[in-house]
Amino acid sequence: MNKLLLIDDEADVQYSFQRIFDSPEIELTTASSGEEALRLLPKVKPDLVMMDVRMGGLSGLETLRRIRQIDSKLLVILMTAYGTTQTAIEAMKLGAYDYLLKPFDVPKLKELVNNALKAARDMKQVVSYQPLLETEDYELGIVGRSEPMQQVFKLIGQLAASDATALITGESGTGKELVARAIYHHSNRSQQPFLAVNCAAIPEQLLESELFGHERGSFTGATMQRVGKFEQCNRGTLFLDEIGDMTPATQTKILRVLQSGTFERVGGNQPIKADVRIIAATNKPLEQAVAARQFREDLFYRLNVVRIHIAPLRERREDIKLLVNYFLNKFAKDQPGPPRSIAPVALKALEKYHWPGNVRELENIIRRALVMSKGEAILLTDLPAEVSGQLQAGGAGGPMALPVGEAGAADITNLARQLFQWARREPKMRIIPAVERELVIQALKETEGNQVHAAKLLGITRATLRKRVEKFGIQRELNIK
Ligand SMILES: Nc1ncnc2c1ncn2[C@@H]1O[C@H](COP(=O)(O)OP(=O)(O)OP(=O)(O)O)[C@@H](O)[C@H]1O
Ligand SMILES: [Mg+2]
Repeated sequence: MNKLLLIDDEADVQYSFQRIFDSPEIELTTASSGEEALRLLPKVKPDLVMMDVRMGGLSGLETLRRIRQIDSKLLVILMTAYGTTQTAIEAMKLGAYDYLLKPFDVPKLKELVNNALKAARDMKQVVSYQPLLETEDYELGIVGRSEPMQQVFKLIGQLAASDATALITGESGTGKELVARAIYHHSNRSQQPFLAVNCAAIPEQLLESELFGHERGSFTGATMQRVGKFEQCNRGTLFLDEIGDMTPATQTKILRVLQSGTFERVGGNQPIKADVRIIAATNKPLEQAVAARQFREDLFYRLNVVRIHIAPLRERREDIKLLVNYFLNKFAKDQPGPPRSIAPVALKALEKYHWPGNVRELENIIRRALVMSKGEAILLTDLPAEVSGQLQAGGAGGPMALPVGEAGAADITNLARQLFQWARREPKMRIIPAVERELVIQALKETEGNQVHAAKLLGITRATLRKRVEKFGIQRELNIK
């Protein structure tokens, strides 16, 4: 449930809010004055405050000042009529989150409220990085006991007390955002806002204005002045995600904020001060982008003050079991009955898989398996083919038990998809000969060198098999005459 507190002395506005936010997810409380709102605050504990700037009694600005004394993190959106935007901008300096022009554009109002509520939720989710015991009941934690993860935990701890800029690197789904939040929650700025901007998700032309705001009329479509994330996040922590995707102009501006603590809105010429701690993340090798002159070297060094690299899951397989248990417990909260377990053979398959999508992929597979599974435990058959298939295809003893018919074809498609991803990443590997070679070796091992049987298993003639054996030079490897 999200709690929204509206402070406005106009009955009309209160009424429209009640209509617009008539939803089971939102609990709306209204106050007609600043004084009333301050009285309600400790009782209601809102996630978001929407407040008119001009009110009888305590002014909006004064109310905001007092709200800040009570709660330095509470998100406050100001509402103001055309022509009084200057006041709203003033209010930003007092730590308002954003402002909205009256009369409202309802879809915009809803979007703004939803985004703010999400930011408020995100800020509240404390991420723990202390080594977690399996039985412990934790809200949101970084799970891992492997050596690489121990290093990550140490760095988070060392970084937390400082204001240093940090650069988090790692493949997609390794937990970069989670680590950024953990740094924030353990930092001196944990009582101030944390905002995240995904630089790759925002169109190039808009990113600069998203970060720094813009003046009215600074470009087509800029019909009103707008404050950016750097202003919204004053005194707080800004998480710049996918930083490899910024244009050179934006890079230059970020560099300047890091160096001098000031920036200008797009189309503006007044320097604005920003006291913002930056945590950046990327899944692209920034060093390469620097070498290719796509990323400013000076900015790279500024960001790279402290580097936290998160190893891909396949390089820390001992964490898989812990993560599986963590996700089983986490999802159990949404389901009736006791948490479910996982069959040893299914766990083995998970531990063997190469995890191109890392922890996010593991999380999704567990979520899906819980839906698929009927009994108490997740079985091999509840896992997707690319995970369960590896055990079947590589299984020892007896002829290879590849499923036939349609299911087999789907498995092969899945397998091929993965192999192809590999080939894309490492074209030097020459995927077809490499796979062919491995298949021949497997078949010969399985049949203890019986070429007739091996050829049959592979669906080729004995002569073709012989040629392959010679071509790949695998006689000696397998001790075949
Ligand atoms: N060590 C971990 N312990 C528990 N959950 C984790 C861990 N690592 C990642 N997760 C979970 O996996 C999912 C992906 O993590 P996150 O979004 O932080 O990854 P990311 O590195 O930012 O990925 P991308 O590059 O795709 O944005 C999240 O749901 C997160 O909670
Ligand atoms: Mg991310």
